[in-house]
Amino acid sequence: MQHQLKKQSIDEFTCNPVNQFDKKWALVTAGDASGVNTMTISWGAVGELWGKSVTFTFIRPQRYTKQFIDRQQTYSVCFFDEAYREELSYLGRVSGKDEDKIRNSGLTVAFVDGTPYFEQAQTVLICKKLYSQKLEKEAFLAPEIPQKVYAGDDYHTMYISEILSLYQAER
Ligand SMILES: Cc1cc2nc3c(=O)[nH]c(=O)nc-3n(C[C@H](O)[C@H](O)[C@H](O)COP(=O)(O)O)c2cc1C
Repeated sequence: MQHQLKKQSIDEFTCNPVNQFDKKWALVTAGDASGVNTMTISWGAVGELWGKSVTFTFIRPQRYTKQFIDRQQTYSVCFFDEAYREELSYLGRVSGKDEDKIRNSGLTVAFVDGTPYFEQAQTVLICKKLYSQKLEKEAFLAPEIPQKVYAGDDYHTMYISEILSLYQAER
C-alpha cells in the first residue's frame, strides 16, 4: 500500500515522545542516486534545540548506513504503520553490506530535494545534520550503561539534525 504524502508544517507532527521511537521504530535512510542504505532505529528523539526543531539519532560505528549518513548532509527518518513491522524488523536484522535489503524488503525509495525516503512511510522527517559526536565512556555518569550497552566498545555516534520538512500520509 502506498500513500499520498503531503508536505506539512512541523507543527502538524504529533506523537507520544517516549513511545515514538521505542515502540514504533523508524527507518534512517541516507544516500544519493548512486546508492542508498537504510536501517531500523528505536533509540532517538525529536525536540527543540538551538531555535530549531531537531531529531536525535544514535548510530553504532559498524552500521553500513553510517557511511551513507556521514557522506551526505541530509537523511530521512521515516515512521510506518504497524503493517510494516516485519519489513522494519528485517531491515534492522540484515546489513546492506551483505544483501540488497531494500529491494528484498519490497519498500520503494523516492527522493525529495535529493534526500531518500520510503513511499510507504506514514510520516517522513527530512533531516539536515547539525552536529555529530561519538559518545564517550568517560562522559557516562551511570557506569552500568557502558558496561551493559557498550561491552563491544562500539559507542554510538549521536547526530543532532534540523528537521527541514515533514511529509505525512493523507488519512
Ligand atoms: C528494533 C530495532 C532497533 C534498532 N535501533 C538501532 C539504533 O537505534 N541504533 C543502531 O545503531 N542500530 C539499531 N538497530 C540495529 C540496526 O538496525 C541493524 O544493525 C541493521 O542491520 C544495520 O544495517 P546496515 O548495516 O545496513 O546499516 C536496531 C535494530 C532493530 C531491529
